[in-house]
Order: sequence, then C-alpha cells, then structure tokens
Amino acid sequence: MREERKVTGSYWLRTAPGRSHPALAEDVDVDVAVVGAGMAGLSTAHELARAGLRVAVLEAGRVAGGVTGCTTAKLTAQHTLVYDRLRRTRGPEAARLYARSQSEAIEHAAALVTELGIDCEWEVRDACTYVRDESRAGELRAEAEAAREAGLPATFTTRTGLPFPVAGAVRVSGQAQFHPVKYLRALTDDLIARGGRVYEETRVVGLHEGGEPCRLTTESGHTVTARDVVVATHYPIFDRALLFARLSPRRELVVAGPLGDGPDPEGMYITPEENTRSVRTAPYGEDGQRLLVVTGEHFTPGTGDPRAGFDRLAAWAEQHFPGVRLEHAWATQDNESTDTVPLVGLFHPGAKHTYVATGFGGWGLSGGIMAGLLLTALITGGDRAWSGLYDPRRLKSVIREAPSLLKTQAEVAKHFVGDRLKPPASLDDLAPGDGALVRAGGDRLAVHRDDTGALHAVSARCTHLGCLVSFNRAERAWECPCHGSRFGVDGEVIQGPAVRPLERRTLD
Ligand code: FES
Repeated sequence: MREERKVTGSYWLRTAPGRSHPALAEDVDVDVAVVGAGMAGLSTAHELARAGLRVAVLEAGRVAGGVTGCTTAKLTAQHTLVYDRLRRTRGPEAARLYARSQSEAIEHAAALVTELGIDCEWEVRDACTYVRDESRAGELRAEAEAAREAGLPATFTTRTGLPFPVAGAVRVSGQAQFHPVKYLRALTDDLIARGGRVYEETRVVGLHEGGEPCRLTTESGHTVTARDVVVATHYPIFDRALLFARLSPRRELVVAGPLGDGPDPEGMYITPEENTRSVRTAPYGEDGQRLLVVTGEHFTPGTGDPRAGFDRLAAWAEQHFPGVRLEHAWATQDNESTDTVPLVGLFHPGAKHTYVATGFGGWGLSGGIMAGLLLTALITGGDRAWSGLYDPRRLKSVIREAPSLLKTQAEVAKHFVGDRLKPPASLDDLAPGDGALVRAGGDRLAVHRDDTGALHAVSARCTHLGCLVSFNRAERAWECPCHGSRFGVDGEVIQGPAVRPLERRTLD
C-alpha cells in the first residue's frame, strides 16, 4: 500500500516561531480594535499606530498563524488574469486603479523593509502568468495588453525560466517575494514599540455597533471598546451586507522542499490550467540552496479528500524539478468574492465605524497591505482613489455579478439540504485516522477514530449556520462546505467564520 503523504504544516510558520503575546485579560478601551492578526489586520494596525492612534489587535490564534502563514508569499500586482476581466467588466479605469493600488502596496512594503531593517528574505522577481495550451495564448495576449494599459510593466512572451515550453505568458517585472511570517513578526514588534497592543488566543465572539463607541466581546468575557472596529479575519466572522452570499471559500494545497541541483526558475509563476499551478523559490539553508514552493489542486473545503491532490501536486513538482526533495506539505484557504475584487472598506450600508477586509482570492499579501493603507485612510478621515473599487457596499457590481451570487447561494443550499440526505456511515467501517458522520438518536455526529483506535465525537452541525461538516482525512480536520469553517477533531475552531466549537458528544 502506498504511504500517505504527511501534512507537515507551513514551512513559513516552522521557520519563524517568534515570541508569543498575552491573551486579553481585562477590558480595554482604544481608538481602533482590529480583529485578526494576518496580513490585512496587522498592516492596518501598524499604519494606524504610525498615524498616532491607540490600537489593539485581537487574534483567536497566533500572529500570522492563519492563512497568511500558509500562503505562497508572492507579493505581486499581477493576479493571474485579473486585468482583462476588470477591463471588460468594470472598465479600464477600474483596471488602472487596481494596478495602482496593488503596486503601491508592494512599494510600501519594500519601503518598510528598508526603514525597519526587516530580515524577511525579500527578493525582487518578475511575475508570470502562463498557459501551455496553444488555444489559450490569445487570453494571455489580451491580459498583457490590459495589464500594460492599466500601467504595469507587462509584456507577452513565450520565454520563461520554467523547465517546459509555454504557449504564452504575461511577464510583469519588478515584483517581489518574501518570508511572510518574518515580515509580519517584525511589523508586530514595531507596532508594539509604537504603543499598539497585540492579544493572541483571544477569540472575538460579539460585535455591538449600535452606539458609539463600538463594543467587542471575547470568548473569555472581556470587552473592548473602540471608536472604530476592523474585521480582518479572512472570512468575516460577522455577516453584514450579505457578505456570506458574496464569498466562496476554496482550499489549496502546497508542497515544498529543497530544489537540489536543478536550475532555479528565477521568478514567480502561475497558470490557471491544471487546476492551478503556482511556483516560486526561496532562500534555503546556509549554502545558497533554494526551496521550491508549488501550490495548486484547489477544492471547496469539506467536499473532498485532498490526499490524491497532494500526490498529483507532488508528482507534478518532481516531474518538472527532478532534483527536488519535497519535505513540506500544507494547505491554505482563500475566499473569492463574486466579482473577484476584494471587499475592503465600510462593512455595510449603515456602517459608520465598522470596516471589513476580505475576499482577496489568493492574493492576500499585496491585497492585505493595500487594505491596511486604504482602511487607515478611511479611518483617519482621508480617502484613496480606489476606495470605490473595493467598497463592500458596491451595488452595481453585485447586481452585475448576480449569477455568481446565486450560484454561491445554490451551492450552500445544496450542502445544507443535500448533505442531510446522505446515508450515515457505520463506526465499524471507520479506519484509524479517518472520520465520518454517523447517526445517533435523531442527531448526526462527526466521529473521528485516532491512531490508537479511540473515538472522538462532536456534533456534525457547523456552529456558524448549521451545515453539516465533512472530514478532511489528510489534514485531520472537520470542514464545512458552506462557508469554509474548519474544526479540529475535538471540535475546536481552526478557522472561521464559525467562532464556537462543535459541541462534544458521547457515544453510547
Ligand atoms: Fe457557514 Fe458552516 S461555515 S454554515
């Protein structure tokens, strides 16, 4: 029997452990409370602290320990094929604003790296979107033209550093790649040095925005009052402005390891083909070696077993980079908005002091830094030319994207109803390491059998809006297909929007 690929966890998180920060143990009052310590949350908090505001960051887990710590860590304004789509759907000006805002974010991060002397393996590289299918070369030509029109240094080419021929590629020069956790840890240190407060293991469970100031409550019962609140929890933990209907979660696999003797492709690559393949390298070890990082095989959380996907991704990496020794495997999660443009700004039509940053669709590093700059401008009374582009309240765009919105909702309804009709499994068939839904009384239980044979039972009803969870065998987690919440085998929340654990159950 073939040995299962071990999911090791993120290379970035393993190589930048960093110091921990205290949990919130008292009520506090600040100017701005930021929920979530990923790239968007910390970039926002850091900018606000630089502007002289009193800021508190509340993180359910660890700094950068969520999606930011699991990304491919490319910092580029080239987002696969975004410019031609934007030009067609929202016009050339929208494409230009998108390019400017993302480029400004990268320039800003580069300036911070220099100013703060951040050691985060910063490297300037070209970004390439490529296709191998000749029939798609025209799409790449159109994208190159749209990206150039939008103001990016973009060219169409058939020459890349990849070890196989391509039918066409869009190359955007002067982009960057880095170690995202080292970068964010340094930013956090500077935030604290400027008087900002960072609380880890502090899960926010309530937001009251009826009066002024806003009030957040935490799982441990403490209160944070703040004039302004920013929700930057990847998938927002609070629904406002139909956001849950406008976001689709997707999970994506990553494999990585020392490149060996093969040539470094010297760039950042991505293709929409083959269920996505994304490639970059990074410094590795002391003797000038390089780490190959390959991402792809995306799927909706809670709808599949990623073991075969890991195998396909690893086989692809080993085929094209024969010297690579793949030692790391992990997965990450993205949220795509219905119109594929992030949602950054005031949370909903009635909001005055609550803001959101979400829907980065796999480009949350440049997007998160952009969000930090944009939200800081909005909170401090300024503006940015692109605030309308990203405004979560944009209605015309939502109407235009109604088919995507309905499709997203239909998927949720399908899971909410259809998953309840699936026949329950039998505990007798449950192998060590696996998990399944079984019926007990009138209830559905999510049961995991660990490697010792012990059973762990929790309610199968997701605590967000009640869809049934499904087991991810490779990562040993319960996942909800409706909005992507993830839970450990004992029910603890790994990833929202859920904020409460699955209820523990006993098996008679
Ligand atoms: Fe929304 Fe589970 S994440 S119902």
